[in-house]
Amino acid sequence: MPRHIGIIMDGNGRWAKKRLLPRSAGHIQGAKAFRRCLRYCSSAGIECVTFYAFSTENWKRPQEEVNALMKLFSDYLDEGLEMDDDDVVMRFIGDMTPFDSSLRQKMERMAADTAGNHGTVCNIAVNYGGRDDILHAVKRLMKDGADADSLTEDSIGANLYTAGLPDVDLIIRPSGEQRISNFMIWQAAYAEYVFMDVLWPDFTEKDLDAALEEYSRRNRRFGGV
Ligand code: IPE
Ligand code: IPE
Ligand code: MG
Repeated sequence: MPRHIGIIMDGNGRWAKKRLLPRSAGHIQGAKAFRRCLRYCSSAGIECVTFYAFSTENWKRPQEEVNALMKLFSDYLDEGLEMDDDDVVMRFIGDMTPFDSSLRQKMERMAADTAGNHGTVCNIAVNYGGRDDILHAVKRLMKDGADADSLTEDSIGANLYTAGLPDVDLIIRPSGEQRISNFMIWQAAYAEYVFMDVLWPDFTEKDLDAALEEYSRRNRRFGGV
């Protein structure tokens, strides 16, 4: 079993387009798939799962779509966890500075309310970029007075948004695209990738099982023999 799973929730727009619906309808269904998968990871006892919800590049989308995504996110934060995943520890990773204070407060509240839980750690990556993550970590270290010779891979890792969590073992990308789109590029140094043709709103527990099955067949060597 992977200790840390990363999921690039992609394909909402195409799901909606196929049905002649607005892209926002795809995001609404995508949010349901997110809940389904989180519930499943929690019941399967997965240690950590990171969902890529909004990238640092996604601001390029039409304002209307960005607003719809923010509204969905805010609704999720209002509704809170469901009974099935009420032992989950919720964290939010990414650069939160562009979000309005009410959204930030809601994230902080959900993180604080769940910090004492003992189940799966669930990171939601919002305004997250792998390059931004590394840059932010290095800036933090330098502001703390680190000099070039004191920098190590461990010190950078300890200042990433995912500090304290294991590196990602398995990255799942539905939607048929085979790229990483700036997701956890540091943490994914030795991740296994599973690309799937299903669109994210259609993604079910069965697809997660299939990805885990594929992962179990991989031979991870980490550069050794
Ligand atoms: C993923 O689905 C959701 C976000 C990036 C927020 P997309 O909206 O990228 O769906 P496609 O790729 O256009 O189908
Ligand atoms: C990656 O999907 C970001 C998220 C799923 C949040 P995109 O749809 O933004 O990625 P590209 O543009 O196809 O690479
Ligand atoms: Mg996409």
